[in-house]
Amino acid sequence: MCGIVGYTGARSAGPLVLDGLKRLEYRGYDSAGLAVLNGEGRIEVFKAPGKISALENALGSRFPSGHTALAHTRWATHGAPNVVNAHPHTDCGGTLALVHNGIIENAPTLRTALVKRGHVFRSETDTEVLVHLVEELHTKGAPLADAVAAALQQVDGTYGIAVISTREPDTVVAARRGSPLLVAIGNGENFVASDASAVLAHTRSVVYLDDGEIAVVRPRDYRILDLSAAEKEKTVTQIEWDLATIERGGYAHFMLKEIMEQPDSLRNALRGRLLEEDGTVRLGGLNLTDEDLLKVRRIVMTACGTSWHAALIGEYMMEELARIPSEVEYASEFRYRNPIVDEHTLVVGISQSGETADTLAALREAKRRGARTLGIVNVVGSTIAREVDGGIYLHAGPEIGVASTKAFTSQIAALALLTLTMGRLRSLSILQGREVVRCLARLPEQVAQVLSKAPHVEQIAERLVRATNVLYLGRGYNFPVALEGALKLKEISYIHAEGYPAAEMKHGPIALIDDLMPVVFIAPQDAVYQKVVSNVEEVKARGGRVIAIVTEGDTGLAKLADQQVEIPETLDLLTPVLSVLPLQLLAYYIAVRRGCNVDQPRNLAKSVTVE
Ligand code: AGP
Repeated sequence: MCGIVGYTGARSAGPLVLDGLKRLEYRGYDSAGLAVLNGEGRIEVFKAPGKISALENALGSRFPSGHTALAHTRWATHGAPNVVNAHPHTDCGGTLALVHNGIIENAPTLRTALVKRGHVFRSETDTEVLVHLVEELHTKGAPLADAVAAALQQVDGTYGIAVISTREPDTVVAARRGSPLLVAIGNGENFVASDASAVLAHTRSVVYLDDGEIAVVRPRDYRILDLSAAEKEKTVTQIEWDLATIERGGYAHFMLKEIMEQPDSLRNALRGRLLEEDGTVRLGGLNLTDEDLLKVRRIVMTACGTSWHAALIGEYMMEELARIPSEVEYASEFRYRNPIVDEHTLVVGISQSGETADTLAALREAKRRGARTLGIVNVVGSTIAREVDGGIYLHAGPEIGVASTKAFTSQIAALALLTLTMGRLRSLSILQGREVVRCLARLPEQVAQVLSKAPHVEQIAERLVRATNVLYLGRGYNFPVALEGALKLKEISYIHAEGYPAAEMKHGPIALIDDLMPVVFIAPQDAVYQKVVSNVEEVKARGGRVIAIVTEGDTGLAKLADQQVEIPETLDLLTPVLSVLPLQLLAYYIAVRRGCNVDQPRNLAKSVTVE
């Protein structure tokens, strides 16, 4: 998903938008570009394939001077990741420059019509149709905002766009449908950006655009309109995070920093929410009364990627402790399969970014069908957070590394809090509730204990650097951890890996086992421990190499496993918070040894804002 930054003010715009863009690089890094409206009233455009550093090298010291500019980092959807398809795109006469995040679904039809009307296209992108559509009205005298509104009424699909024009030199017009965009309010200067990290160095005051809104931004003011040019009143939000939280803070990678931040991110997720005396929790943002929560007869959790793995753990928790029928749905499947939900269904969307297009659409679909919706979200003010009926913020702080780590463990903690809330309203006793609350409170310390074993995990990683396949196996609450471990390895080291319920192995994957196939078992001493031990013996019997995540003091499995990492004891439902940590570190160290770009793995992006 692309990153957009725009600026208008008194300062030199080029360096400002480029600096902001660097903080958005985790959103996509196939190509980057910049457009500056220079002192002579012309738009100068610079583009380069690949990372922003390539654009910086291409620019060198010849930064165009100007006070209005746009910048864009791309995650290619339509058209190869090359310099021609890089944004910004300009119109036929060079009057306009436009950057876009999203997909224009009817671009081919619009393009054919525009070519018939004499427009000349330079790129293969869907985006370029937008700048030519705006050109049609703007060059006939229509104000930029009106021309943009008229153009957008012709397009199907999703967009976050920003446009500048030589005819309105101090104006940036931005608009959103489906892709996140905000206006950041400075002192005598204003920005537009895909997310707040691009502007935190300058201001914390932001206005989030909603779907169907257009922002007309000038140095000293901004107006928010809808597509029919009606003025909209908007709230100015103050961002909590500061610049330091989005710096690497001395770590080699954001991913390692975020792994090591987990004791604190968990403390933040639990702070002020644990009520040990009552054996329950306080969740201020649910926006649902106990009556509402008691009317819930079925829970559907929907998400993508790592968040979907957290949802699987939430399903197990909800059924075990709250005894509420629960299901987990891939958001991309749920939204198109005519799902059965009603006013007694609680649909919980789990998303770190709060912007994942499929999860957002699944929640909108659930709402349309009468369900109550909750969001378990990390990014404050994100679209999912603003559209659901209620929710739980993770307070994990910004997660910049594309591979999700601290958000995952905080999602599990948040799901445990929601489960306690639902369970204590039903059959879960105060004693059971107190025990879960006590174990939750101990987690941050226990996480720090496991993370102190990083050097040991690094040694294990040494022996897996040249692996071509890895199998992850777990049962019960740790089956989703097997999936998560495999995903982490795949997405940052590019080694093929699969996660499976350990017992499923006998129904196929066991054919893969030989002395070259490393098998990672997640085997804490929980309710299914003995079953997992049998599975380990089955793998050992076929010469497999076993790395096991075990409970401290477990000498039994120690004899069977080739290598192991110990984790402290806790309740079964909370073991995933501890057992996933060695798997995050394992993937990290293997990827670093293989020379992979850990924070910005190939072909991936941090939040997937298109379908
Ligand atoms: C996980 O490491 C990946 N970055 C990806 O699978 C991610 O979990 C998925 O895109 C969902 O993102 P979200 O939590 O922001 O919705």
